Formats: sequence, structure tokens, C-alpha cells
Amino acid sequence: MAACTAAAAAPPERAIALPDLRSGLHFAGPDVRSMQADAAANPAQLWIDQGRSLWSAAPARQRGGGAEPSCQDCHGRPGSMTGAALRFPRVHPASGRLFNLEDQIRHCRATRQHQPAPDFESDELLALTLLVTEASAGLTLRARLTPELLPHFEAGRTLYERRQGQLNLACGHCHDRHWGQRFHTDLLSQGHPNGYPVYRLEWQKPGSLERRLRSCFFGVRAEIPPWGDLSMRQLGLYLTWRAEGLPVEVPAVRK
Ligand code: HEC
Ligand code: HEC
Repeated sequence: MAACTAAAAAPPERAIALPDLRSGLHFAGPDVRSMQADAAANPAQLWIDQGRSLWSAAPARQRGGGAEPSCQDCHGRPGSMTGAALRFPRVHPASGRLFNLEDQIRHCRATRQHQPAPDFESDELLALTLLVTEASAGLTLRARLTPELLPHFEAGRTLYERRQGQLNLACGHCHDRHWGQRFHTDLLSQGHPNGYPVYRLEWQKPGSLERRLRSCFFGVRAEIPPWGDLSMRQLGLYLTWRAEGLPVEVPAVRK
């Protein structure tokens, strides 16, 4: 325990110093920036509106009539979720699994509302995740290297630093060493998670951080882990630490 505490007190060195951190928005073109800034033009608003309806709707009981409690019945108004997105990824106490926000929402849907857990990247899950994350808009990402999270953090860091795929590149080759430079048609950002779920023009819809990471795995021709894989949550935890101090910018837009 003492060793864990000591390790938690001395986090690893940062490839990008905190004052030099830049949100992905910084690297976006003027069209994307104005779309993100203007709530009326931001297409992610449609999903947030859908999230609001889902939040207050009491789903029909699967058997025997009547209704299950809505998200709102247990949690209050969506504003009660202020700060909640910042607590993920975290270890879910009952299951001991590392949960990202999507996992928590799927869990509540299944165990508290007795509905089928929404699929990853379904409109339903993206809408609720966007709604919950938006409640933390403007709050800054924080590092939470508790003893319980530390092994997951280390696994995420190892994955971040590992060369992989046919291109044999680590995340940092693009996002620590070459940010601000062109990669094919893209301007490389520092690879931060603070805008996720993001509305991506190329996808024509919002997508989760997990989907974005899968694109980066694909980009280096690496084997893509299955949906829901622990390694993606560990990577997400590492990215959160790495982006410490950046504000949550949901709903964000990307090319
Ligand atoms: C070959 C270069 C390359 C590698 C290696 C790479 N990425 Fe990316 N990544 C990109 C490109 C291109 C984008 C889209 C433009 C941008 O935001 O940089 C991107 C975007 C991202 C974003 C979204 C940033 C935003 O603001 O929307 C994250 C997060 C990210 N990468 C994380 C990772 C992680 C973690 C790894 C390692 C598993 C990785 N990337 C490996 C090229 C790369
Ligand atoms: C019957 C009550 C109940 C319902 C209905 C419910 N939840 Fe939960 N929720 C909980 C409990 C209890 C927790 C504490 C963590 C746990 O046990 O999973 C929780 C935790 C959460 C958290 C983490 C909050 C934080 O501050 O860390 C989120 C986010 C969440 N729920 C979202 C939802 C969403 C979205 C819905 C609707 C789809 C929903 N919940 C429906 C009971 C409920």
C-alpha cells in the first residue's frame, strides 16, 4: 500500500508540458471551429436533444405492464450530472471492472431499467453519453491516479508508448512528436479526449472516443481490439491524465 501511494505521488514525466497542451479544436479549420461555436449550427445538438428525451422517458417494463424508472427518476435533472463525466474511466465498485461513461450508462440501462443494454455507437448510447458529458462542459480534466486506478493507468501508458501495426508507430510518434504537422490531409493534433463523443463530419454522426481510437489503430494497420475491450478504457484513462487541465468541450466537431 505504501509503495502504491509513493508511486501515485510521482506520476511519470510528460511528453507535452501542461502549459503547451492544446485541444483538438486548436488544429481544426475555421469551418469546423464556427460549427462547434454556434449551437444552432452544431449537428451534435440533435443527439443532445434526443438524449434529453431518453433521459426523462420511463421505459415500459419488459414483462407485466407498468414502467421502469427513468434516468431522471433516480438521478434528477440532467444538470445533476455536472462533473460525472470527469470521474470516468473508473473502477465500478460492484463489478470491479474499469468502466468508461458508456459502460456506466449501459449498466444503468440494463440493471436499473431492465432494458437491453444499448449497443456501442448506437444513437441511443451516443445521445445519452453526449447529454451527460455536456453537463461537464467547461470543467477541466483531472488526473486521478488512485492506487486502484494505477495498474490501469500503467497499462494505458504502456499501450500508448508501444509501437504497433504495419507502420510500427506508437501514439506518441504522431501526437507527441509531430503535432501541428500535416499527415496526409490532416493536421495532427495532440490526440486529446476532451471533445468526446465528438461530431465527426467524415462519420456524418457523433462517435465515441473508442471509435476514434479504433481509427488510429486502423491508421497504423494494427489489430483492432473488440468493442468494449479493457485496453481501450486503459488508454482512455492515460489520455485523461495526459490532457489534465483541458476543458471538456462537448459538443465538439471534427473533420
Ligand atoms: C500515424 C499517425 C497516428 C498515430 C500513430 C496515432 N494517431 Fe491518433 N490521430 C491521427 C490523426 C490523423 C487524427 C485526426 C486528426 C487529429 O486530431 O490529430 C488522430 C486523432 C486522434 C484523437 C482525437 C483528437 C481530437 O481532438 O479529436 C485521439 C484522442 C487520438 N488520435 C489518440 C491516439 C492514440 C491513443 C494513439 C495510439 C493508440 C494514436 N492516436 C495513434 C493520427 C495518428
Ligand atoms: C433505479 C435507479 C437508476 C436508474 C433508473 C438509472 N440509474 Fe444511473 N446510477 C444509479 C446508481 C445506484 C448509480 C451508482 C453507480 C452504480 O451502482 O452503478 C448510478 C450511476 C450513474 C452514473 C455515474 C454518476 C456519477 O456521478 O459518477 C451515470 C452517468 C448514470 N448513472 C447514468 C444513468 C443514465 C443515463 C440512466 C438512464 C438511461 C440511468 N443512469 C438510470 C441508479 C440509477
